[in-house]
Amino acid sequence: PYPFFAELRRTAPVSQVEPAGMWAVSRYAEALTVLKNPQLFFSAGMAALMTPPWLGRGNPSVNSILFMDPPQHGRLRALVSRAFNASALNRLEPRIRDFATSLVKALPADGGVDFVSAFALPLPASVIGELLGLDPSLHSRFKRWSNDLVSVSAVPPEDVAMQTRVRQSLDEMEHHMKEVLEDRRRQPREDMVSDLLRAQVEGERLTEEELVGFLVLLLSGGLETTMHLLAQAARVFIEEPGVLARLRAEPSRIPAFIEEVLRYEPPIHLTIRQTTQEVELGGARLPKGALVAVLLGSVNHDEAQFPQGDRFDMDQPGTQNLSFGHGIHFCLGAQLARLEARLGLEALLARFGSVERGEAPEEWSPSMMVRGLSSLPVRLREGD
Ligand code: HEM
Repeated sequence: PYPFFAELRRTAPVSQVEPAGMWAVSRYAEALTVLKNPQLFFSAGMAALMTPPWLGRGNPSVNSILFMDPPQHGRLRALVSRAFNASALNRLEPRIRDFATSLVKALPADGGVDFVSAFALPLPASVIGELLGLDPSLHSRFKRWSNDLVSVSAVPPEDVAMQTRVRQSLDEMEHHMKEVLEDRRRQPREDMVSDLLRAQVEGERLTEEELVGFLVLLLSGGLETTMHLLAQAARVFIEEPGVLARLRAEPSRIPAFIEEVLRYEPPIHLTIRQTTQEVELGGARLPKGALVAVLLGSVNHDEAQFPQGDRFDMDQPGTQNLSFGHGIHFCLGAQLARLEARLGLEALLARFGSVERGEAPEEWSPSMMVRGLSSLPVRLREGD
Protein backbone atom coordinates (compact mmCIF):
# COMPACT_ATOMS: atom_id res chain seq x y z
CA PRO A 1 0.00 0.00 0.00
CA TYR A 2 0.87 3.70 -0.18
CA PRO A 3 3.08 3.89 -3.30
CA PHE A 4 3.51 7.67 -2.78
CA PHE A 5 5.20 7.00 0.59
CA ALA A 6 7.46 4.36 -1.00
CA GLU A 7 8.52 6.93 -3.59
CA LEU A 8 9.24 9.49 -0.86
CA ARG A 9 11.35 6.99 1.10
CA ARG A 10 13.38 6.24 -1.99
CA THR A 11 13.87 9.71 -3.40
CA ALA A 12 13.25 12.34 -0.71
CA PRO A 13 13.07 10.87 2.83
CA VAL A 14 12.89 14.32 4.42
CA SER A 15 11.19 16.80 2.12
CA GLN A 16 8.85 19.75 2.14
CA VAL A 17 5.34 18.87 1.01
CA GLU A 18 2.34 20.93 0.05
CA PRO A 19 -0.13 22.26 1.03
CA ALA A 20 1.19 23.44 4.41
CA GLY A 21 4.90 23.40 3.59
CA MET A 22 5.55 20.92 6.38
CA TRP A 23 8.60 18.68 6.30
CA ALA A 24 7.57 15.06 5.81
CA VAL A 25 9.72 12.35 7.40
CA SER A 26 9.05 9.05 5.68
CA ARG A 27 11.84 6.69 6.83
CA TYR A 28 12.09 4.75 10.08
CA ALA A 29 15.60 5.93 11.03
CA GLU A 30 14.87 9.66 10.73
CA ALA A 31 11.48 9.20 12.42
CA LEU A 32 13.29 7.75 15.46
CA THR A 33 15.71 10.70 15.50
CA VAL A 34 12.77 13.14 15.60
CA LEU A 35 10.80 11.26 18.27
CA LYS A 36 13.87 10.65 20.45
CA ASN A 37 15.01 14.27 20.55
CA PRO A 38 12.32 16.49 22.06
CA GLN A 39 14.95 19.17 22.73
CA LEU A 40 15.38 19.60 18.94
CA PHE A 41 11.84 18.67 17.86
CA PHE A 42 9.36 20.03 20.38
CA SER A 43 5.58 19.62 20.84
CA ALA A 44 4.42 22.82 22.57
CA GLY A 45 4.42 24.74 19.28
CA MET A 46 1.28 22.82 18.34
CA ALA A 47 -0.70 24.34 21.21
CA ALA A 48 -0.93 27.74 19.46
CA LEU A 49 -2.21 26.09 16.26
CA MET A 50 -4.86 24.31 18.30
CA THR A 51 -6.15 27.56 19.84
CA PRO A 52 -6.89 29.64 16.70
CA PRO A 53 -8.67 33.02 16.98
CA TRP A 54 -11.85 31.76 15.25
CA LEU A 55 -12.43 29.35 18.13
CA GLY A 56 -13.07 32.30 20.46
CA ARG A 57 -12.33 30.21 23.56
CA GLY A 58 -9.57 28.08 25.05
CA ASN A 59 -8.96 24.53 23.89
CA PRO A 60 -8.82 22.22 26.92
CA SER A 61 -6.70 19.60 25.18
CA VAL A 62 -3.66 21.90 24.92
CA ASN A 63 -3.25 21.62 28.70
CA SER A 64 -2.44 17.94 28.25
CA ILE A 65 0.88 16.09 28.08
CA LEU A 66 0.65 15.66 24.31
CA PHE A 67 1.46 19.36 23.88
CA MET A 68 4.18 19.55 26.52
CA ASP A 69 7.96 19.24 26.50
CA PRO A 70 10.55 18.42 29.15
CA PRO A 71 10.72 19.15 32.01
CA GLN A 72 7.00 19.97 32.31
CA HIS A 73 6.01 16.87 30.30
CA GLY A 74 7.91 14.51 32.60
CA ARG A 75 6.41 16.00 35.75
CA LEU A 76 2.88 15.68 34.44
CA ARG A 77 3.35 12.29 32.81
CA ALA A 78 4.62 10.90 36.14
CA LEU A 79 1.45 12.17 37.80
CA VAL A 80 -1.00 10.79 35.25
CA SER A 81 0.69 7.46 34.54
CA ARG A 82 0.25 6.46 38.17
CA ALA A 83 -3.49 6.52 37.59
CA PHE A 84 -3.02 4.48 34.44
CA ASN A 85 -0.96 1.52 35.59
CA ALA A 86 -1.41 -2.25 35.60
CA SER A 87 -3.83 -2.26 38.53
CA ALA A 88 -6.06 0.27 36.74
CA LEU A 89 -6.08 -2.07 33.71
CA ASN A 90 -6.83 -5.11 35.87
CA ARG A 91 -9.76 -3.24 37.34
CA LEU A 92 -11.10 -2.53 33.85
CA GLU A 93 -10.54 -5.97 32.31
CA PRO A 94 -13.77 -7.70 33.45
CA ARG A 95 -15.80 -4.66 32.42
CA ILE A 96 -14.23 -4.64 28.95
CA ARG A 97 -14.94 -8.36 28.57
CA ASP A 98 -18.60 -7.76 29.55
CA PHE A 99 -18.94 -4.91 27.04
CA ALA A 100 -17.38 -7.02 24.28
CA THR A 101 -19.53 -10.07 25.03
CA SER A 102 -22.79 -8.16 25.04
CA LEU A 103 -21.92 -6.30 21.81
CA VAL A 104 -21.07 -9.62 20.12
CA LYS A 105 -24.33 -11.15 21.37
CA ALA A 106 -26.30 -8.32 19.74
CA LEU A 107 -24.66 -8.81 16.31
CA PRO A 108 -26.90 -10.53 13.75
CA ALA A 109 -26.01 -14.07 12.70
CA ASP A 110 -26.10 -14.26 8.93
CA GLY A 111 -27.39 -10.72 8.50
CA GLY A 112 -25.67 -7.63 7.15
CA VAL A 113 -24.37 -5.08 9.65
CA ASP A 114 -21.97 -2.14 9.73
CA PHE A 115 -19.08 -3.47 11.80
CA VAL A 116 -17.94 0.03 12.79
CA SER A 117 -21.20 1.31 14.26
CA ALA A 118 -22.21 -2.07 15.75
CA PHE A 119 -18.88 -3.04 17.33
CA ALA A 120 -15.68 -1.14 16.56
CA LEU A 121 -17.03 2.21 17.85
CA PRO A 122 -19.25 1.19 20.79
CA LEU A 123 -16.57 -0.99 22.40
CA PRO A 124 -13.98 1.79 22.91
CA ALA A 125 -16.78 4.30 23.64
CA SER A 126 -18.02 2.11 26.52
CA VAL A 127 -14.47 1.62 27.80
CA ILE A 128 -13.60 5.33 27.71
CA GLY A 129 -16.96 6.18 29.25
CA GLU A 130 -16.22 3.76 32.10
CA LEU A 131 -12.65 5.03 32.48
CA LEU A 132 -13.76 8.66 32.67
CA GLY A 133 -16.76 7.83 34.84
CA LEU A 134 -19.17 9.48 32.38
CA ASP A 135 -22.86 8.63 32.26
CA PRO A 136 -23.65 5.97 29.59
CA SER A 137 -26.32 8.29 28.13
CA LEU A 138 -23.43 10.49 26.94
CA HIS A 139 -21.65 7.74 24.95
CA SER A 140 -23.50 8.56 21.74
CA ARG A 141 -21.98 12.08 21.83
CA PHE A 142 -18.36 10.90 22.13
CA LYS A 143 -17.73 10.59 18.42
CA ARG A 144 -19.03 14.11 17.71
CA TRP A 145 -16.97 15.54 20.59
CA SER A 146 -13.84 13.82 19.41
CA ASN A 147 -14.34 14.69 15.71
CA ASP A 148 -15.04 18.32 16.59
CA LEU A 149 -11.95 18.51 18.79
CA VAL A 150 -9.63 17.21 16.07
CA SER A 151 -11.21 19.51 13.50
CA VAL A 152 -9.76 22.51 15.39
CA SER A 153 -6.90 23.92 13.32
CA ALA A 154 -5.58 27.28 12.15
CA VAL A 155 -7.99 27.20 9.20
CA PRO A 156 -11.58 27.93 10.33
CA PRO A 157 -14.31 25.59 9.05
CA GLU A 158 -16.01 27.43 6.18
CA ASP A 159 -19.45 26.69 7.53
CA VAL A 160 -20.22 29.06 10.43
CA ALA A 161 -22.70 26.53 11.85
CA MET A 162 -19.79 24.09 12.08
CA GLN A 163 -17.73 26.63 14.05
CA THR A 164 -20.62 26.98 16.48
CA ARG A 165 -20.90 23.21 16.76
CA VAL A 166 -17.20 22.85 17.58
CA ARG A 167 -17.50 25.47 20.34
CA GLN A 168 -20.56 23.70 21.68
CA SER A 169 -18.78 20.34 21.73
CA LEU A 170 -15.84 21.80 23.64
CA ASP A 171 -18.25 23.43 26.13
CA GLU A 172 -20.04 20.13 26.65
CA MET A 173 -16.84 18.14 27.11
CA GLU A 174 -15.47 20.61 29.60
CA HIS A 175 -18.75 20.76 31.49
CA HIS A 176 -19.10 16.98 31.87
CA MET A 177 -15.44 16.41 32.77
CA LYS A 178 -15.67 19.08 35.49
CA GLU A 179 -18.85 17.48 36.79
CA VAL A 180 -17.12 14.09 37.15
CA LEU A 181 -14.12 15.69 38.89
CA GLU A 182 -16.45 17.48 41.32
CA ASP A 183 -18.34 14.27 42.03
CA ARG A 184 -15.16 12.27 42.76
CA ARG A 185 -13.81 15.03 44.98
CA ARG A 186 -16.95 14.75 47.08
CA GLN A 187 -17.05 10.94 46.94
CA PRO A 188 -13.82 9.22 45.90
CA ARG A 189 -14.21 5.77 44.27
CA GLU A 190 -11.94 2.99 43.11
CA ASP A 191 -11.53 4.47 39.64
CA MET A 192 -9.11 6.37 37.43
CA VAL A 193 -10.55 9.82 38.04
CA SER A 194 -10.21 9.36 41.81
CA ASP A 195 -6.65 8.04 41.26
CA LEU A 196 -5.88 11.18 39.26
CA LEU A 197 -7.22 13.41 42.01
CA ARG A 198 -5.03 11.57 44.53
CA ALA A 199 -1.98 11.61 42.25
CA GLN A 200 0.87 13.50 43.76
CA VAL A 201 4.61 13.55 43.16
CA GLU A 202 6.87 15.39 45.60
CA GLY A 203 4.02 17.50 46.85
CA GLU A 204 2.79 18.48 43.39
CA ARG A 205 -0.73 17.91 42.20
CA LEU A 206 -2.50 18.35 38.88
CA THR A 207 -4.25 21.70 38.44
CA GLU A 208 -7.92 21.81 37.37
CA GLU A 209 -6.87 22.76 33.78
CA GLU A 210 -4.41 19.87 33.63
CA LEU A 211 -7.04 17.42 34.90
CA VAL A 212 -9.67 18.53 32.38
CA GLY A 213 -7.04 18.61 29.60
CA PHE A 214 -5.98 15.05 30.35
CA LEU A 215 -9.56 13.70 30.43
CA VAL A 216 -10.33 15.42 27.13
CA LEU A 217 -7.15 13.96 25.60
CA LEU A 218 -8.11 10.46 26.75
CA LEU A 219 -11.51 10.75 25.14
CA SER A 220 -10.25 11.88 21.78
CA GLY A 221 -7.01 9.85 21.82
CA GLY A 222 -8.60 6.58 22.81
CA LEU A 223 -11.80 6.50 20.80
CA GLU A 224 -11.28 6.57 17.04
CA THR A 225 -7.80 5.07 17.22
CA THR A 226 -9.08 1.89 18.84
CA MET A 227 -12.14 1.93 16.58
CA HIS A 228 -9.89 1.94 13.50
CA LEU A 229 -7.75 -0.87 14.92
CA LEU A 230 -10.80 -3.11 15.42
CA ALA A 231 -12.24 -2.26 12.00
CA GLN A 232 -8.93 -3.00 10.26
CA ALA A 233 -8.77 -6.35 12.04
CA ALA A 234 -12.21 -7.22 10.62
CA ARG A 235 -11.07 -6.12 7.18
CA VAL A 236 -8.14 -8.54 7.34
CA PHE A 237 -10.62 -11.32 8.26
CA ILE A 238 -12.60 -10.47 5.10
CA GLU A 239 -9.57 -10.43 2.84
CA GLU A 240 -7.69 -13.35 4.34
CA PRO A 241 -10.18 -15.89 5.70
CA GLY A 242 -7.31 -18.24 6.62
CA VAL A 243 -6.19 -15.75 9.28
CA LEU A 244 -9.54 -15.89 11.07
CA ALA A 245 -9.59 -19.70 11.03
CA ARG A 246 -6.07 -19.80 12.39
CA LEU A 247 -6.82 -17.39 15.24
CA ARG A 248 -9.91 -19.39 16.22
CA ALA A 249 -7.69 -22.46 16.48
CA GLU A 250 -4.85 -20.58 18.21
CA PRO A 251 -6.26 -17.64 20.22
CA SER A 252 -2.82 -17.16 21.82
CA ARG A 253 -1.73 -15.65 18.45
CA ILE A 254 -4.27 -12.80 18.74
CA PRO A 255 -1.74 -10.34 20.29
CA ALA A 256 0.77 -10.97 17.43
CA PHE A 257 -2.07 -10.46 14.94
CA ILE A 258 -3.03 -7.15 16.61
CA GLU A 259 0.59 -5.89 16.39
CA GLU A 260 0.66 -6.68 12.67
CA VAL A 261 -2.66 -4.88 12.07
CA LEU A 262 -1.22 -1.87 13.92
CA ARG A 263 1.93 -1.96 11.81
CA TYR A 264 0.16 -2.47 8.52
CA GLU A 265 -2.53 0.23 8.94
CA PRO A 266 -1.63 2.55 11.81
CA PRO A 267 -4.70 4.42 13.11
CA ILE A 268 -2.61 7.58 13.64
CA HIS A 269 -0.96 8.37 10.37
CA LEU A 270 1.15 11.33 11.34
CA THR A 271 2.43 13.15 14.36
CA ILE A 272 3.83 16.67 14.26
CA ARG A 273 6.79 18.41 15.90
CA GLN A 274 8.52 21.77 15.46
CA THR A 275 12.27 22.43 15.27
CA THR A 276 13.83 24.49 18.07
CA GLN A 277 16.87 25.36 15.92
CA GLU A 278 18.27 24.71 12.46
CA VAL A 279 18.67 20.93 12.09
CA GLU A 280 20.20 18.58 9.54
CA LEU A 281 18.01 15.51 9.01
CA GLY A 282 18.17 12.81 6.34
CA GLY A 283 20.24 15.00 4.02
CA ALA A 284 17.93 18.02 4.34
CA ARG A 285 18.53 21.27 6.24
CA LEU A 286 15.48 22.32 8.23
CA PRO A 287 15.22 25.93 9.43
CA LYS A 288 14.36 26.84 13.03
CA GLY A 289 10.58 26.73 13.60
CA ALA A 290 9.94 24.22 10.79
CA LEU A 291 6.91 21.96 11.21
CA VAL A 292 7.88 18.31 10.89
CA ALA A 293 5.31 15.57 10.16
CA VAL A 294 6.45 12.04 11.01
CA LEU A 295 4.57 9.79 8.59
CA LEU A 296 3.82 6.73 10.73
CA GLY A 297 1.99 5.09 7.82
CA SER A 298 5.21 5.26 5.84
CA VAL A 299 7.81 4.36 8.47
CA ASN A 300 5.88 1.19 9.34
CA HIS A 301 6.44 0.03 5.75
CA ASP A 302 10.09 1.11 5.50
CA GLU A 303 11.85 -1.78 3.77
CA ALA A 304 15.06 -1.02 5.72
CA GLN A 305 13.25 -1.99 8.93
CA PHE A 306 10.58 -4.40 7.64
CA PRO A 307 12.00 -6.34 4.67
CA GLN A 308 8.59 -7.83 3.79
CA GLY A 309 6.82 -4.66 4.91
CA ASP A 310 4.23 -4.52 2.16
CA ARG A 311 2.87 -7.96 3.01
CA PHE A 312 0.46 -8.55 5.87
CA ASP A 313 2.15 -11.34 7.82
CA MET A 314 1.43 -11.96 11.49
CA ASP A 315 4.51 -14.19 11.71
CA GLN A 316 6.95 -11.36 10.91
CA PRO A 317 9.54 -11.27 13.65
CA GLY A 318 8.43 -8.74 16.25
CA THR A 319 10.31 -5.77 14.84
CA GLN A 320 9.11 -2.61 16.54
CA ASN A 321 6.40 -0.68 14.73
CA LEU A 322 5.88 3.00 15.53
CA SER A 323 2.07 3.01 15.63
CA PHE A 324 2.03 4.09 19.28
CA GLY A 325 4.84 6.60 18.72
CA HIS A 326 8.21 6.41 20.48
CA GLY A 327 10.13 8.13 23.25
CA ILE A 328 8.67 10.41 25.91
CA HIS A 329 5.23 10.70 24.25
CA PHE A 330 4.86 6.95 23.66
CA CYS A 331 1.13 6.26 23.89
CA LEU A 332 0.00 6.05 27.49
CA GLY A 333 -3.03 4.03 26.40
CA ALA A 334 -1.09 1.42 24.38
CA GLN A 335 -1.67 -1.41 26.87
CA LEU A 336 -5.32 -0.48 27.22
CA ALA A 337 -5.81 -0.39 23.44
CA ARG A 338 -4.13 -3.80 23.07
CA LEU A 339 -6.28 -5.21 25.86
CA GLU A 340 -9.49 -3.85 24.31
CA ALA A 341 -8.54 -5.24 20.92
CA ARG A 342 -7.64 -8.67 22.35
CA LEU A 343 -10.81 -9.02 24.45
CA GLY A 344 -12.94 -7.67 21.60
CA LEU A 345 -11.52 -10.13 19.07
CA GLU A 346 -11.68 -13.06 21.52
CA ALA A 347 -15.40 -12.41 22.02
CA LEU A 348 -15.99 -12.02 18.28
CA LEU A 349 -14.12 -15.20 17.30
CA ALA A 350 -15.80 -17.23 20.03
CA ARG A 351 -19.07 -16.79 18.14
CA PHE A 352 -18.27 -16.15 14.49
CA GLY A 353 -16.45 -18.44 12.07
CA SER A 354 -16.32 -16.06 9.12
CA VAL A 355 -16.58 -12.40 8.21
CA GLU A 356 -17.62 -11.60 4.65
CA ARG A 357 -17.93 -8.30 2.85
CA GLY A 358 -21.41 -6.77 3.02
CA GLU A 359 -23.33 -5.23 0.14
CA ALA A 360 -22.60 -1.51 0.63
CA PRO A 361 -19.08 -0.20 -0.05
CA GLU A 362 -16.73 0.50 2.86
CA GLU A 363 -16.00 4.15 3.69
CA TRP A 364 -12.80 5.79 4.92
CA SER A 365 -12.61 8.79 7.24
CA PRO A 366 -11.41 11.97 5.50
CA SER A 367 -8.83 12.91 8.19
CA MET A 368 -5.13 12.70 7.28
CA MET A 369 -4.18 12.39 10.91
CA VAL A 370 -6.49 9.67 12.23
CA ARG A 371 -6.92 7.36 9.28
CA GLY A 372 -9.19 4.36 8.98
CA LEU A 373 -12.60 2.95 8.13
CA SER A 374 -15.66 4.98 9.10
CA SER A 375 -17.95 2.18 7.96
CA LEU A 376 -17.39 -1.46 7.08
CA PRO A 377 -20.51 -3.35 5.98
CA VAL A 378 -20.06 -7.05 6.77
CA ARG A 379 -21.97 -10.32 6.87
CA LEU A 380 -21.07 -12.50 9.83
CA ARG A 381 -21.52 -16.27 9.99
CA GLU A 382 -21.50 -18.26 13.18
CA GLY A 383 -18.81 -20.90 13.59
CA ASP A 384 -19.02 -24.34 15.16
C1 HEM B 1 -0.08 9.29 22.61
C2 HEM B 1 -1.47 6.19 19.14
C3 HEM B 1 -4.99 4.46 22.01
C4 HEM B 1 -3.91 7.86 25.27
C5 HEM B 1 -0.14 8.56 21.44
C6 HEM B 1 0.80 8.70 20.34
C7 HEM B 1 0.39 7.85 19.36
C8 HEM B 1 -0.79 7.14 19.84
C9 HEM B 1 1.04 7.66 17.99
C10 HEM B 1 2.03 9.61 20.30
C11 HEM B 1 1.72 10.94 19.69
C12 HEM B 1 2.95 11.80 19.53
O1 HEM B 1 4.09 11.35 19.73
O2 HEM B 1 2.78 12.98 19.15
C13 HEM B 1 -2.53 5.44 19.64
C14 HEM B 1 -3.16 4.34 18.93
C15 HEM B 1 -4.15 3.85 19.75
C16 HEM B 1 -4.14 4.65 20.94
C17 HEM B 1 -2.76 3.84 17.55
C18 HEM B 1 -5.12 2.70 19.53
C19 HEM B 1 -4.93 1.69 18.71
C20 HEM B 1 -5.01 5.21 23.16
C21 HEM B 1 -5.89 5.01 24.26
C22 HEM B 1 -5.60 6.00 25.18
C23 HEM B 1 -4.51 6.79 24.64
C24 HEM B 1 -6.93 3.89 24.38
C25 HEM B 1 -6.23 6.27 26.52
C26 HEM B 1 -7.47 6.05 26.83
C27 HEM B 1 -2.79 8.52 24.84
C28 HEM B 1 -2.13 9.59 25.58
C29 HEM B 1 -1.04 10.02 24.81
C30 HEM B 1 -1.03 9.18 23.60
C31 HEM B 1 -2.56 10.12 26.94
C32 HEM B 1 -0.06 11.16 25.12
C33 HEM B 1 1.19 10.65 25.76
C34 HEM B 1 2.21 11.75 25.96
O3 HEM B 1 2.13 12.81 25.31
O4 HEM B 1 3.10 11.57 26.82
N1 HEM B 1 -1.09 7.60 21.12
N2 HEM B 1 -3.17 5.61 20.84
N3 HEM B 1 -4.18 6.29 23.40
N4 HEM B 1 -2.10 8.30 23.66
FE1 HEM B 1 -2.58 6.90 22.29
